[in-house]
Amino acid sequence: MAMASGVSNSPSNFHLLLLLLLVLSVSWLCTFANGSNSTTIYDELRAKGLPVGLLPKGITRYEINGTSGEFQVWMKEPCNARFENEVHYDPNIKGTLGYGKIKGLSGMTAQELFLWFPVKGIRVDLPSSGLIHFDVGVADKQFSLSLFEDPPDCNPEVDADSDDVLRAVW
Ligand SMILES: *[C@@H]1O[C@H](CO)[C@@H](O)[C@H](O)[C@H]1NC(C)=O
Ligand SMILES: *[C@@H]1O[C@H](CO)[C@@H](O)[C@H](O)[C@H]1NC(C)=O
Ligand SMILES: *[C@@H]1O[C@H](CO)[C@@H](O)[C@H](O)[C@H]1NC(C)=O
Repeated sequence: MAMASGVSNSPSNFHLLLLLLLVLSVSWLCTFANGSNSTTIYDELRAKGLPVGLLPKGITRYEINGTSGEFQVWMKEPCNARFENEVHYDPNIKGTLGYGKIKGLSGMTAQELFLWFPVKGIRVDLPSSGLIHFDVGVADKQFSLSLFEDPPDCNPEVDADSDDVLRAVW
């Protein structure tokens, strides 16, 4: 009886061995494929139907909770990018990524008539109208999606409070 079960087990042991080899080679491949940095925050944005140009170049690290969509990105220093309006990025930006939208955003401010407003949320129309909406608290500010096709260069901030200095930079 014990002998019989031993014999019938050997094919499954063989399969187990094959499986083990497969798992080992997959994990080996993953290590060498540099899986840690092959996905970027831009890929995450794209996967959610959002334009990658919402975040600037120069992101050094990011984290995302795949369940809740909460994310954080880090940059070396605060910086400013220009779309139609000037947008300021803190070195740490947080928010919650959903399909076609970012909620609970912090670390990003947009300039409007010489004032800086925190951008609290961003959403695109689905199906796309070619517009993107920035929730700046006091208003829903619309921009053309085409402004956000590529991550912009982001210039280290000189003085966010002085419009003259910023104009000089640009
Ligand atoms: C990832 O790639 C870099 C440079 O291409 C290399 O130095 C590093 O060893 C790689 N890491 C892994 C885990 O393969
Ligand atoms: C991974 O990171 C290394 C250095 O950190 C870099 O040279 C390489 O281009 C990165 N690979 C990808 C796919 O981003
Ligand atoms: C991710 O989000 C889920 C749902 O909000 C939460 O239960 C979980 O603890 C989070 N994971 C991490 C690593 O923060």
